[in-house]
Parts: sequence; C-alpha cells; structure tokens
Amino acid sequence: MEPAELEPTFMIGDIPIYGQLVLAPMDGLSDASFRWITRRLGSAYSVSEFVNTLDYANQKSYEKKRMLYRDKERPFAVQLLDNDAVRMAESAARIEEEFHPDIIDINMGCSAKSVAGRGAGIGVMCQPELVRDMFRLVTQAVNVPVTGKMRLGLDETSHNFIELSELAVENGAKLIALHGRTKKNSFNKPARWAPIGELKRRMTVPVIGNGDVRTVSDAKRMLEETGCDAVMVGRAAKANPWIFSWRDREEISVQEVYQTARFQLEDMVSLQPERGVMPFRKYLKAYLDPYELPRPQMKALLTTYDPNDLLGLIDETFLALGAEVDAPPIIDNSIIYR
Ligand SMILES: Cc1cc2nc3c(=O)[nH]c(=O)nc-3n(C[C@H](O)[C@H](O)[C@H](O)COP(=O)(O)O)c2cc1C
Repeated sequence: MEPAELEPTFMIGDIPIYGQLVLAPMDGLSDASFRWITRRLGSAYSVSEFVNTLDYANQKSYEKKRMLYRDKERPFAVQLLDNDAVRMAESAARIEEEFHPDIIDINMGCSAKSVAGRGAGIGVMCQPELVRDMFRLVTQAVNVPVTGKMRLGLDETSHNFIELSELAVENGAKLIALHGRTKKNSFNKPARWAPIGELKRRMTVPVIGNGDVRTVSDAKRMLEETGCDAVMVGRAAKANPWIFSWRDREEISVQEVYQTARFQLEDMVSLQPERGVMPFRKYLKAYLDPYELPRPQMKALLTTYDPNDLLGLIDETFLALGAEVDAPPIIDNSIIYR
C-alpha cells in the first residue's frame, strides 16, 4: 500500500505516515474491523477508540478489546483518556508492553458529561498543568511517539488550543489533531477550520485537521485552506469508508458495498461473538440508506439476530440490487494481534 520508495507524507516522531486521510477515533465505531477496512482503503494510520485508563488500571477486561488490531494495520495508536497523569503514564507503559502499539494518543476532546465532568477528555483543556504532566509523564513512560487530539477550548472566550498545543509539544507531543469546535459547540453548528490553519502555522510538529469533512472535496478544501498535514474523517466515514480512497459514496458500486458489508459482519462476529450482529447494524443501515429499500425489508435487515440469517438476507438484498454474491473477497483477512 505504501511503496518503500515513496516519500512519507509526514512523520509522527520516527514513524513515517503515508497519506492525508485518517479515520478519526470514535467510541463505538472505530473498532478493529472498521479500522481495518478503512486502512485497506487508504486511511493513513489507525487510532483506537479511547481507552479510559481509570478502567484499564482497574483491569476491566472490556477495555482490552479496544486495543485489538491486526499487525498489518500498523501504524496503530492507542488513545488514552484520564484525569490523572500518573495513572495514565503507568497504564501507557503497561499497554505498550502488552499490546505493542506504535503510538500513544492523548484524548483532550471528549465532552461526554461522565468524562469531562471528572476533568478528563476536554476537561483537561482548562488544566494546563495536567496537560503538561500527561505529556511529560506519558512520554517518559513509553518508547513510542505520543500525540494529542483536542478541541478549540471550552467556549468562545477560552480558545486555548495554541497554548496547550505548544505546551504538549514542549513536553514531548509529536503531532496535534485539532477538532474545530469548542466543548460548548454541538455537532449542529459547523466546525471552524480557520483555527486549524492558525495552529498549523504555529506548530513545528504535524497538525491534523478535523471537523465536518463529509466529501472528497471537503477534504481537499480543508487541506488547501488550512495547510494541515492530514484530515481526520469521523462521522461521515460510517456511511462512506471509501472516502479514504478519495471516492465519494455515489462512486461506489453495489458490488463493493456488498463485499465490504459482508466482510465487516463476518469479521465483527468473529472478533466479538458475544455481541452478535448488534454492533454491525449501524453500519448496515448507513451502507443501505442510499438504496431507499422498502421499510419492511430494511426492518427485517435491522432486526435479525442470527448472523447466518443476516448474511442470507444481505445476499438476497444485494443480489436484487445487482451484486454478484459469489465474487472473491476484496478485503483480505489477517491475523489479529492480541
Ligand atoms: C460516536 C462518536 C464517538 C467519538 N469518540 C471519540 C473518541 O473515542 N476519541 C476522540 O478523540 N474523539 C471521539 N469522537 C470525536 C471524533 O473523533 C471527531 O473529532 C468528531 O466526530 C468530529 O469529526 P467529524 O465531523 O468528521 O465527525 C467521537 C465522535 C463521535 C461522533
């Protein structure tokens, strides 16, 4: 995917990164199967769903699933979230030893009440000493590069992304990803991209821009307008993982959608059999939306529990849409690293 003779697009510390589109970390969405699909399509590296190191330190086993990845998925970043720098650094060291990620990323953007309320996620953006300590201690605790992802600030009167990015870099951060919203901005207000350009002009490390990139032309526009090194695509990727191959949804054939959906369902069920088809439904709905299927057919697809029954229904649906259901796989499976 990335020929050795190609110049890297940018570096995260000593790790070469090829490509300008990256899947954004998303709790409940950027799991091992979806990340693998987006990496095969062109996402330049992977970032895990956030790992709450309060839970990790207390040995909650479900957090470990968030660190599953295929060896071929590298570079793979594990994103950490906490309000305690020492616990985060100790967890980072253990995670490095146990899961061997290539990068550790620090979450400074999650605005969920349960997270921000205890001073984690975006809660760290009003605690510069905590940002300093997190980067300093995590960088000291691990051998891999440390990156950070943040928002503009808490609200309009406290945009401190430049100050905090500088602090993070002074204490070891090798890349900053900036989501162009404040804690107070909800998703229905457009993200602002000008601050991404402002940050890029000030930073000596690569900057990734993020917020409201839905199409290939949005991605190109963000790159041009801000000069950022890469663009992270979040919500829009759910319905169009093909964006990472610089293609909009309307360019994707029924065949490719079918084969991707089938691979994803089988892969998700094999990785997390106990959760069955449930976590796959949100993708299936997003993949099928453009075809405007009759309601009863959509309902059947989204309420079937048995994975084999669902595979049968998917075959039937896509056959009727014109797909060839016995074509060879387009996404290779690969060994999961545990
Ligand atoms: C369902 C969901 C879960 C998210 N989980 C995370 C997360 O675990 N870590 C993180 O840094 N950001 C998380 N985000 C924020 C996204 O990474 C991204 O910054 C945000 O969605 C804006 O990008 P977009 O407009 O392309 O969606 C999440 C967003 C959504 C919608």
